Amino acid sequence: MCGIVGILGGVAAAPRLVDSLKRLEYRGYDSAGVATLVGGELQRRRAEGKLRNLEGALEKTPLEGSSGIGHTRWATHGAPTVGNAHPHQAGRVAVVHNGIIENYLDLRDEITAAGAVLDTETDTEVVAHLLNFEIAKGASPKDAVATVLPRLNGAFALAILFAGEDDLLIGARKGSPLAVGHGDGEMFLGSDAIALSPFTDRITYLDEGGWAVLTRTSCEIFDAGNQPVSRPEARSSVTAALMDKGNYKHFMAKEIHEQPEVLGHTLSRYLDYGAQSAKVAGADKIKFKDLSRLVISACGTAYLAGLVSKYWFEKYARLPVDIDIASEFRYRETPMSDKDSALFISQSGETADTLASLRYCKEQGAAIGAVVNVPESTIAREADVVFQTIAGPEIGVASTKAFTCQLTVLAALALQAGRERGVLSAEDEKKLVAELTEVPSLALKALASEQAIEKLSQTLSQATNALYLGRSTSFPLALEGALKLKELSYIHAEGYAAGELKHGPIALIDENIPVFVIAPYDRIFEKTVSNMQEVAARGGRIVLITDQKGAAESGNAAQDTVILPEMSDIVAPIIYALPVQMIAYHTAVFMGTDVDQPRNLAKSVTVE
Ligand code: F6R
Repeated sequence: MCGIVGILGGVAAAPRLVDSLKRLEYRGYDSAGVATLVGGELQRRRAEGKLRNLEGALEKTPLEGSSGIGHTRWATHGAPTVGNAHPHQAGRVAVVHNGIIENYLDLRDEITAAGAVLDTETDTEVVAHLLNFEIAKGASPKDAVATVLPRLNGAFALAILFAGEDDLLIGARKGSPLAVGHGDGEMFLGSDAIALSPFTDRITYLDEGGWAVLTRTSCEIFDAGNQPVSRPEARSSVTAALMDKGNYKHFMAKEIHEQPEVLGHTLSRYLDYGAQSAKVAGADKIKFKDLSRLVISACGTAYLAGLVSKYWFEKYARLPVDIDIASEFRYRETPMSDKDSALFISQSGETADTLASLRYCKEQGAAIGAVVNVPESTIAREADVVFQTIAGPEIGVASTKAFTCQLTVLAALALQAGRERGVLSAEDEKKLVAELTEVPSLALKALASEQAIEKLSQTLSQATNALYLGRSTSFPLALEGALKLKELSYIHAEGYAAGELKHGPIALIDENIPVFVIAPYDRIFEKTVSNMQEVAARGGRIVLITDQKGAAESGNAAQDTVILPEMSDIVAPIIYALPVQMIAYHTAVFMGTDVDQPRNLAKSVTVE
């Protein structure tokens, strides 16, 4: 999940590489580096930590040259040190890599036995050495790449620069994304269209196993069998403007506050307000009417959106859902056939486990739908039908607006499925659509609880553990609350189905553990309140997230209450996500952690 970029340009490459890496920093920020060709010689600058450290290094010792490659790293093999930072060089070859070379230990032994001296702990360095060996034997750069690529197991996107070859850049992909950008007398490589957006909107996506040989005026593409192929050029809609935080302190704060607007955009795409019905273009590909079950798979927060939707598909469409996290699903060997349909949910559209699960289902003949935020992503391109979330670019590593937009799309799909399966009456559909129409204004009202949340987050920031409880669609939200708190503030947190508490976790309860209870006033409110009382009886410090009625009916067990407007069942998980996000955000701010780029994480997880 590193970010890579390559440039064969007409002006100095280093500042352009850095500009591009700024847009890729969401993919990893453990270290960064660039290499350019100066008078035919490879020269590198690398720095540990965030990109600003590399900028500092380049200010001290600028780098000339108009051809270059750059990298921003999420460490897999080897600590995030300068020595392990990309580009890696062996003789005449410099390489940047996103992914994992799984057979690198065998390759390392082989090249060490052949006399190479390896000076990093990375899996990537072996690629530079293997290529350099081929070149030392007299192979051309292109032939060297054709020989070495089939020897690499695992996932990779590579950009390769060769000393003495100022007009040559080679890129290859297998499992990790890579795009070619076409300029006027210039050529580019990048992990995604965002990386290339400052230079061009003319993009060619490489197919799985494909590789490309670029000069400033040409682009030859080969398939995994080294046969020349032609791939179409597409126009990217990604804008070149660097995403900025506006008046907010963090991207995450901005993205939380954008929700009323982006939820409105997403709803307009999937609901027909005039007819008061769900109107999901392409839903016929999922064959809802004939399904005996729907398979859903995703990772992290996107998985939790899927988990909420299980309740909806089962309730509104009487459609059983088999849902699993993608890292498990991909190896589970679930029986499937061409009678099945599967949905994959992903903000980035690049998550390796989700993509592998998609490919598994596709091989089994299932119809594939993708709920993604990035329409040019690999998952979007490999799906039979894409249900795009209209969240706009999400830069904060923790998913916020993408999550609620995923929920919105999934809610519309559940209604569509209910209608197509003949279990949702026109009258009920109208009612549910009218309720969903309230989402943007309810989201705005939910944001009004921010001050109260900020205040209670100050106390929370003293805690070392926290619990989140909920039932029904509030259960996935409890999991989401715990996930968000952990990843942003590094406070250990767990989410539980409220009814499960007494089967073990209740042993954790004492006066030091804050317990967040997510409980809209619905048909199972009383059940959740009983579980809350069990916590109170053991001295737990309760924060109840509910509405006015819930607050009035909950007794006086909660020390703090976050009050949201009253709302219907289908809307509640979308709106209750907002206080959950704000709790994690403000706690992290109090704790002084790096909210937009929490430690050890990356926005796009392209390794398994
Ligand atoms: C948590 C978070 C992650 C992602 C997960 C999947 O806040 O953002 O758990 O949801 O890595 O990413 P996508 O949606 O890009 O597949």
